Amino acid sequence: MSLRLLHITDSHLYHDPTRVLKGVCTHDSFAAIIADAYRRFPAVDAVILGGDMAQDEQAATYRMLDSMLPHWQAPVMITPGNHAALEHLYGELIPALKAHTGYRDHVQGRHWQIIALNSHQAGHVAGRLPETELARLQQLLSASATTHALIALHHHPIPISSRWMDAIGLENRDELWNIIRRHPQVRALLCGHIHQPLDVMHDGVRVLASPSTCVQFIPCSDTFELAALSPGYRWLDLLPDGVISTGIHRITGIFQSGITRWRPDTLYSCASFIFPVGEELQNSRQRLFLVHITTRQGEVGACLV
Ligand SMILES: [Fe+2]
Repeated sequence: MSLRLLHITDSHLYHDPTRVLKGVCTHDSFAAIIADAYRRFPAVDAVILGGDMAQDEQAATYRMLDSMLPHWQAPVMITPGNHAALEHLYGELIPALKAHTGYRDHVQGRHWQIIALNSHQAGHVAGRLPETELARLQQLLSASATTHALIALHHHPIPISSRWMDAIGLENRDELWNIIRRHPQVRALLCGHIHQPLDVMHDGVRVLASPSTCVQFIPCSDTFELAALSPGYRWLDLLPDGVISTGIHRITGIFQSGITRWRPDTLYSCASFIFPVGEELQNSRQRLFLVHITTRQGEVGACLV
């Protein structure tokens, strides 16, 4: 029997639901993502909140996040990011989740084990897995050597050919990979933080990342640069034989305003195919064209250029 997961990450919510981050109202885009995900996937086995859920790190923001989640009747898992107030996460959000939908830091199924790690490092944007988390990972993997394993964390555990992002990834990734190499049942690592999809193999392990529910970053960029792509999330089906079926869904109708420069060279180098469908939209300031993007990994997205 397979397990179905959703990875919803980097919502960067404010307690003021009207606030905008880099041109996107993060409340509205998160609400649209959640609505789309619940409509497409009303029955799931776990929902992973991938970190950076509260941009302002306020207790009220975590309460708002809990109130926005639909009743999936599945445990929520959390991988805290650099934008995280652990006292509010553990004092507000997790108790609320336990009372409503359920909260787990690992899930043990018949064929799969899912482990959520905390790579939050107070005062730093880059991540680090503390000794306690590394020991917990080691213990969980050793206790369930016969089931496939997926490890989730916020910070990316491999370089992604993006100089500015690679400077703020997981600092002690070698320690993580040393543990993984001793446990061949690990099939995948799943991260947030990079605000873009990723699906590559590293040391025989699949490394996946997901778009943000708000602003998107341009892949393979040396410097911080925003992509004119709509918010999205990832679904995953963990099959009994260890195979992972996965894809991205992006919503339409929310995009980063103010981005008028399109970089097809970047998109071509980091995606595989682009199919403009030529649906012209109008707004008060500029003419925009809706295009759909399909990558080799099967992503179907939309952006306005
Ligand atoms: Fe983020």
